[in-house]
Parts: sequence; C-alpha cells; structure tokens
Amino acid sequence: MKKSLRIGAALVLLGFLASPAVSQNGKDEALDSKVRAFLQKMRYEWRDMNVPETDGKLLYDIVVKNGYTKALEIGTSTGHSGIWIAWALSKTGGKLITVDIDEGRYREAVANFEQAGLGDFIDARLADAHELVPELKGPFDFVFIDADKDWYTNYAKAVIPKLEAGGCIAAHNVYASRGGRRYGMGTGDFYEFMSKHPDFETSILESRGGLSTSYKKKTVAE
Ligand SMILES: C[S@@+](CC[C@H](N)C(=O)[O-])C[C@H]1O[C@@H](n2cnc3c(N)ncnc32)[C@H](O)[C@@H]1O
Repeated sequence: MKKSLRIGAALVLLGFLASPAVSQNGKDEALDSKVRAFLQKMRYEWRDMNVPETDGKLLYDIVVKNGYTKALEIGTSTGHSGIWIAWALSKTGGKLITVDIDEGRYREAVANFEQAGLGDFIDARLADAHELVPELKGPFDFVFIDADKDWYTNYAKAVIPKLEAGGCIAAHNVYASRGGRRYGMGTGDFYEFMSKHPDFETSILESRGGLSTSYKKKTVAE
C-alpha cells in the first residue's frame, strides 16, 4: 500500500473510533439545552400542585448522586418533578414510570415530556395508583411519592418489597415537627411509619415543599 493511502486509511479508522464519543457528547449537550430551555420557558407556568424548582433540583441530585436507574413516581400531575427525575435518569441511563389518575393532567404531562425532549426516558401511565402500584413488578431503586397524602403509607408498604437495598423513597409535603406537633397535609402517619421502620434511614431535607428521604439499608432486618 502506498504511504499516502496508509495514512488515509489510518485517519478514516481514527475518525470512526472517535465519532461515537463525539456524537454521544453532542447528543447529551443537545438534550441538556432542550431540557434547560423548556424548564426556563415553563419556570412560572407550573400551576397544578407541581413541586417548586428547588425541590425538582433536589430530586435530580438524589438520582444522579446515587446512580439510580429504576424510578417510579406516584403523582405525575403535568410533569414538573417527572422532568427533573427523567433528566437525571438521562445521565444515569435509567427510566421512569410515572402514574396519575387525572386524564387532563396526564395528557399535558405527556406533551411536556415530549417538548422537553425526555419522552424516551419516561413511561407515563394513566391509572389509579392504588391499583397500579401494587401490581408493578419492580424492582425500583428510586420512588417519589407525591399523590393523595392519606395513602402515602399504603404506597410505601406496596413499594418497600420492590425497592433495592440502597434505594430511596422520597416523599413530598412531609415536614419536620414544629413546637412538638407534626404537620404536613396528612403525611404525619407516613413519616412516623418510615422513621420507625427498621430497614430505613429517614430524614427531612431543607426544602420549600417539604421533602423526606428514606434510604433502604444495605442489610435489612430479618
Ligand atoms: C401534588 S400533584 C403531583 C405534582 C407532580 N409531582 C409535579 O411536581 O409536577 C398530585 C397528583 O396526584 C394525582 N393523584 C391523586 N390521587 C391519585 C391516585 N389515586 N392515583 C394516581 N394519581 C393520583 C393527582 O391527580 C395529582 O395530579
């Protein structure tokens, strides 16, 4: 082979090997820009009981920091928290199942997920979570509960056997006690249940909307 041909072939091979990484990074950056632009556009438009932006960021950080990949959200509404969770899952290579009972909010959420560029990372279900959650097979490593407050403990009981060791149950509108009285829109029983559960370490984060996290211990009680 002529020297110039050999150099040409080597360059083609080099380009081929380098291109997947280059296009992967390009893809990540394009997705990040799309998500950021969508969140910016929607910043003051979330009006359906959605989490505040600060709490969305907290959810994002929990998923990325722990490398979670199998997520479940109970209570999609129009998709604000789902977008933060799915954006994090786009970094870890994971997927989110999210469920809501309200058809109008479900449809809006699906449109929002597409517009944010995150549709491929989300399996949105229109269903009564009281029925669907016990039926889901799992396993999960991250669960976010943000639906009907008086059912939080039942949701927890249904997902605990499907939660991997090291996994996390996060729940919204759960607050620390004030002046000896616990409050939080009916989530007090859930907090009591989780904080007394021997297999979990539960705490409440500094958060605008009240966010508890319960991490499943690596070794659980027999
Ligand atoms: C606080 S909002 C969720 C907000 C959402 N996580 C966000 O930040 O964008 C609660 C949602 O739970 C849904 N919900 C209430 N009861 C439900 C049930 N039994 N099954 C499924 N969804 C339910 C409501 O329709 C509502 O959209």
